[in-house]
Amino acid sequence: MGEGRTREMPLLETVVDEILDLKRQRNAILLAHHYQEPEIQELADAVGDSLELARRAQSFDGDVIAFCGVWFMAETAKILNPSKTVVVPDAEAGCSLVDACPASQLRAWKRKHPDHVVVSYINTSAEVKAESDIICTSRNAVKVVESIPADRPILFVPDVNLGRYVKEQTGRSNITLWHGTCIVHATFAGRRLAAAKAQHPDALVAAHPECPPEVLRMADFIGSTSAIIEWVLAQPAREFIIMTESGVEHTLKRRAPDKRYYFVPNEQCNCSECPYMKRNTLEKLRDALLRLEPRVELAPELIERARIPLERMLALR
Ligand code: 13P
Ligand code: SF4
Repeated sequence: MGEGRTREMPLLETVVDEILDLKRQRNAILLAHHYQEPEIQELADAVGDSLELARRAQSFDGDVIAFCGVWFMAETAKILNPSKTVVVPDAEAGCSLVDACPASQLRAWKRKHPDHVVVSYINTSAEVKAESDIICTSRNAVKVVESIPADRPILFVPDVNLGRYVKEQTGRSNITLWHGTCIVHATFAGRRLAAAKAQHPDALVAAHPECPPEVLRMADFIGSTSAIIEWVLAQPAREFIIMTESGVEHTLKRRAPDKRYYFVPNEQCNCSECPYMKRNTLEKLRDALLRLEPRVELAPELIERARIPLERMLALR
């Protein structure tokens, strides 16, 4: 063991012990998205995609939800379980898709299309959810759109790549798309994926639907983070190119250590990491449990309005 390690390990163990103590004292649950750092995932009571974590938050009957993910996910937890205290390790853990769709602009768009059904991706603010008819996630977007009568025109916000994918899968031409993107997935480039495929000719490709069409066209499977993990685990193949945030590698390596995983860096940061998700740390999680800050606070009236489209989605099994 190196010198640095002997100094750092007790520190890390102390933080972990503090988190576990605080979790007991607060009667808290730790929910973590797949894009969180491995040490956070290891401590979590549940690791999942947006849909799984929303369901888990809804059924929690303790006192505090410590949401290790990004702010819109914690807001969703609060909307679905408003009597709980919901904290996030870092209040700056945002999302480029949320930023791309301010509620005031959506209201203006709705005024121009009064007969349209508004389908909003879960990666939106509580205010945008409150303006929506139904919410979807990357796991159920096709199913959600298929639940809407075929003759009803749809406004789909805010992810243009997910929207295009849903249009293609459902064959519906009456979907108008908002033009927001994810800074991580939308900057994955087809030519880089093609180069990775040439380098690893036996590898299968799994991609998140937030990726651009040229990437999705090369994919053997398209799905949410958890769906990608489930699909990879079910394949007899040994090698995979994974077109999503590299945090999923932790579960993949734990559940299938003998398979090989390749991540293709995007053209934004030359990495596959979400800078918002990676703002959360164990120390910030400990402090959030200690101070119960940063805490999600939403007006009861907003919660009521935002809950309706979320519950419509959750009712679709
Ligand atoms: P998932 O619902 O697939 O986990 O996606 C969340 C997300 O933010 C993808 O970038
Ligand atoms: Fe938002 Fe993209 Fe980060 Fe997901 S990966 S939280 S969509 S910025």
